[in-house]
Amino acid sequence: MTRLVELEATGPRKLEPSDIDESKGDIAVCQCGLAESFPFCDGSHRQTDDEESETTYVYENGERSVVERVVTTDDE
Ligand code: FES
Repeated sequence: MTRLVELEATGPRKLEPSDIDESKGDIAVCQCGLAESFPFCDGSHRQTDDEESETTYVYENGERSVVERVVTTDDE
């Protein structure tokens, strides 16, 4: 399972003490790329629970699609 995600940030986001979840006492950083509150986990990773190991997905507007092929401008 892999995912294609689009990120617009061009630099780091420094974590601050105020980023700590007071109820849990930690900071959960999103690793799935789907969090609306990126870079913080918001539970959106639950959408990936049934992803298949050899498949690449893209999530757009609440819908999941399978990626068959990625074409870049360098491809012919
Ligand atoms: S790891 Fe991405 S939303 Fe939780």
